[in-house]
Amino acid sequence: MGCDASILLNHLGSERKAFESRSLRGFQLIDEIKVELEKRCPRTVSCADILTAAARDATILAGGPFWEVPFGRKDGKISLAKEANLVPQGHENITGLIGFFQERGLDMLDLVTLSGSHTIGRSTCYSVMNRIYNFNGTGKPDPSLSIYYLKMLRKRCKKDLDLVHLDVITPRTFDTTYYTNLKRKVGLLSTDQLLFSDVRTGPFVEAFATQPFLFTSQFAVSMVKLGNVQVLTRPNE
Ligand code: HEM
Repeated sequence: MGCDASILLNHLGSERKAFESRSLRGFQLIDEIKVELEKRCPRTVSCADILTAAARDATILAGGPFWEVPFGRKDGKISLAKEANLVPQGHENITGLIGFFQERGLDMLDLVTLSGSHTIGRSTCYSVMNRIYNFNGTGKPDPSLSIYYLKMLRKRCKKDLDLVHLDVITPRTFDTTYYTNLKRKVGLLSTDQLLFSDVRTGPFVEAFATQPFLFTSQFAVSMVKLGNVQVLTRPNE
């Protein structure tokens, strides 16, 4: 856990081997960057710094903002599969998410802002099966899902490991459609949709949905904060 690149460690019982890491990919690209850096500048740039910079650069390529990444992270040497489930899975309530973020020095504004990264990428259907078939054990779908979107998801999600876009309208563009989707009841994860309906987070969703510049500038600020969570910097850490 934390920004120490321990997710890259690939041994029996490591975080990367956990079920929760099922859809993570791009590991080879990070390995290639590391090899190149070791050639040109040996034992200087950590994998944690590479991952943090790559997240920033990928954001730019998708149309998002630039931010300055402070460097100097050390790589963690411990990676435990059982810790992978500490990361929110998409079925938490807002109080739980606020608490989780707060424990890491991130506030409610960071929560709504960073959730905006779901403007790109995909999720396994596993994360939404309950929402579309058996919400909270009711045997019915989540009523906060648009009926059209529900039909689409049922069609696309035949198996747990099928994939669906997190942003159904512009899945490859970094924009504020993620937030406008929530207003139209087409948020993919239950946690996404709840950000809109909860009185504590709803006003931020509304602000981002209507003021794209507000979102992109706050995203840069919140990503710097996220990149500094549980960072290792001391010599023998
Ligand atoms: C607020 C709490 C969050 C929850 C509950 C959450 C939940 C999830 C879930 C369930 C998935 C899909 C996993 C799967 O089934 O394959 C996902 C994907 C993703 N999440 Fe989050 N997430 C959260 C915060 C974040 C943050 C802070 C970021 C980055 C700043 C982020 C970036 C992403 C991206 C980019 C994907 C797509 C990955 C891909 O295409 O493979 N999420 N998230």
